[in-house]
Amino acid sequence: MTTEDFTLGMKTERMTDIALAFKKTGALLAAIKLDLFSHISNGADTVEALAEAMGIDAEKVDRLLTACKSMDLVRKVDGRHENLSDVQRYLVKDSRTYFGDYLDYISRRDYSAWEEIADNLTAVAKSNEDDERTYLSYMQDPENARKFTEAGYEASIGLGHKLAKEFDFSRFKRWLDLGGGSGCYAIAACERHDGVAVTILDQANVIAIACEYIDKHGLAGRIDTTPGDFFGAAYPTGFDLASYITPLQGYMPDKVIAALAKAYDALEPGGTILVVDYMLRDDKTGPLDPAFVNLFGIREGRFLGRVNTGAEWSEFLDEAGFVDADYRWFTPHQLGLITARKPS
Ligand SMILES: C[S@@+](CC[C@H](N)C(=O)[O-])C[C@H]1O[C@@H](n2cnc3c(N)ncnc32)[C@H](O)[C@@H]1O
Repeated sequence: MTTEDFTLGMKTERMTDIALAFKKTGALLAAIKLDLFSHISNGADTVEALAEAMGIDAEKVDRLLTACKSMDLVRKVDGRHENLSDVQRYLVKDSRTYFGDYLDYISRRDYSAWEEIADNLTAVAKSNEDDERTYLSYMQDPENARKFTEAGYEASIGLGHKLAKEFDFSRFKRWLDLGGGSGCYAIAACERHDGVAVTILDQANVIAIACEYIDKHGLAGRIDTTPGDFFGAAYPTGFDLASYITPLQGYMPDKVIAALAKAYDALEPGGTILVVDYMLRDDKTGPLDPAFVNLFGIREGRFLGRVNTGAEWSEFLDEAGFVDADYRWFTPHQLGLITARKPS
């Protein structure tokens, strides 16, 4: 079956928009850095009021504002500027769901490396060893671990609550969250469900930050922590739920299957494995963000992880010994939710 080519009759706008998308990144990061959206939310809704609030010349504010209006981030209604609703929710500093710092951190961390994609694909890898997407070496520095984990908390606490609403954690007594990071998923689940107790396993420098969040939420009685490597020998057991929430995109399939097999060993018969991770559609037509994460997982010719389709996740779980694998979208543009069961 042939489907119509939707670009018939188009000129260069589409490829210009794709090739020059860095301009959108730059303008958005500038608006975040200068707190434009927070000032608008706080009532500075004209060019003059914004110029005063931001301490910048009105003509300059007007140019930034014009770019933001062109990107549908801000609009003008009855002579006053207002943020579009997603901007209001996620890019205004005192919003509970603010994630401007996360966008700034990730964009700045990865920006220049995106100039190297073609070179990364054509380079010949110096060794066959895969390199775990920098997680293990990067987190050896306590400051890196703090930056990464705090940004991760900010980016994912909302998703933690979404998962806790959609996934019934109260069915479980003991949950092992592997690569649990800041603990945001465990915290949200404990706040929304009675009963379940959680053990978070992650690297020592990450666990130190997780403990701060756990204490802040008064959940030390229900969430405990184990510093370590989830491929390591000493491994806690006796759980009825084990999860990997987004660490496995940093590993290639052989390692992923080995990690799943570790979770299998940690579970009691009949226990459930839950994986939340970047996921591609089975026909590999997207979504865009997982496709980009997958492409970015090749550096200097080496594979630093992989984004898998739902069907591939099911195969990996099958190989690790699990049964009844099932997958669906958790966030339709990005993350899949995959479950399976250890046979009783
Ligand atoms: C992308 S973060 C996700 C954190 C958390 N699950 C979340 O979604 O907010 C991946 C986490 O997995 C941890 N991790 C990766 N490989 C690991 C390993 N081999 N052993 C223990 N932790 C690991 C990293 O330290 C990091 O905290």
